Amino acid sequence: MSSKNFKIAALAGDGIGPEVMREAIKILRTVKKRFGVGLEITEAPIGWAGIDAAGKALPDATLALCKRSDAILFGSVGLPDRDPTVRKEERPERAALLRMRKEFGLFANLRPVKLLKALAHACPLAKERQGDGIDILVVRELAGGLYFGQPKHTEEIPGGRRAVDTMVHTTPEIERIAHVAFKAARLRRKKVTSTDKANVLENGVLWREVVTRIGTQYPDVALDHIFADNAAMQLVLRPTQFDVLLCENMFGDILSDEAAALGGSLGMLPSASLGVASGGKTFGLYEPAGGTAPDIAGKNLANPIAQILSSALMLRHSFGLDDAAAAIENAVGKSIDAGYRTGDIFNPSDPSARKVGTGAMGDAIAAAI
Ligand code: IPM
Ligand code: MG
Repeated sequence: MSSKNFKIAALAGDGIGPEVMREAIKILRTVKKRFGVGLEITEAPIGWAGIDAAGKALPDATLALCKRSDAILFGSVGLPDRDPTVRKEERPERAALLRMRKEFGLFANLRPVKLLKALAHACPLAKERQGDGIDILVVRELAGGLYFGQPKHTEEIPGGRRAVDTMVHTTPEIERIAHVAFKAARLRRKKVTSTDKANVLENGVLWREVVTRIGTQYPDVALDHIFADNAAMQLVLRPTQFDVLLCENMFGDILSDEAAALGGSLGMLPSASLGVASGGKTFGLYEPAGGTAPDIAGKNLANPIAQILSSALMLRHSFGLDDAAAAIENAVGKSIDAGYRTGDIFNPSDPSARKVGTGAMGDAIAAAI
């Protein structure tokens, strides 16, 4: 199909990372055979695994591997209960994940939430609120806002301490993420709902102004604005009104977790973090949205689907291998339809459902490709 050889840096990380990454690699090897595509997968440590292996959450060798790769398939990092003597700046969340987002200019985070019919029971909303199905793409700005704004520090003041984070967005930052949202909407149901807090925040006013202006370049896409708190409420009241939900970094962090619950489980939600396209190529980091889940790590309980769907997003967005990506997505659908369920999406009252572990779920999906 393609004579190109795509280099993938596979960074499993911590918690359930290694066991779900194992399944994603299983799927990629299957795709490689089935489609004859050149995929070269190299694994490297990151997160606490990086600290254990090389003394740093993002070891130099891991960063170097990422730089010579075409995309990063990322597991998850961060174990809040590990070693409190490691300073917050050196801990995996900041020193590995946020550093990676910054290092590679990953400004656009896509989180597609889809409630499959067969998993209607796993959605916390009543059936009538699910309508004909929930299908939302959260587009989250990932390089600015509260996460990266300066100043950011904690200082001693009389009577205690003072902690400062800064929420800041520039016009070009808002423009580029708005374009991503409108372009994505064109391939879907042609509606963008932009969230902000224009009623109280300066950067919310700018956000709304810029998104409105960029929207005029996409007359075929409907644009709505909604306050972020109202968005949180509307997601549970009437989620079917949303197609593309455009959010700044912090709002997107919160609203995408809420939206994920509507999709049945955080274990079902993949994500793509994309940089600026150059020379027809888009570098990206692809990761499940669910995190390390230390409570179930190493027990063969984790749902590998978010990691597997993240690898499909990688094939599509960074390698342009749309058929192979669709094959993975279809195989996930088929496995769910065939009744395979990890614990998070298992319904004991469904006679066709079969509870399986992480490895067996991966096997079922690989067999369906
Ligand atoms: C996410 C995560 C991260 C974030 C954490 C782990 C730093 O929650 O990707 O949504 O807040 O962005
Ligand atoms: Mg989050």
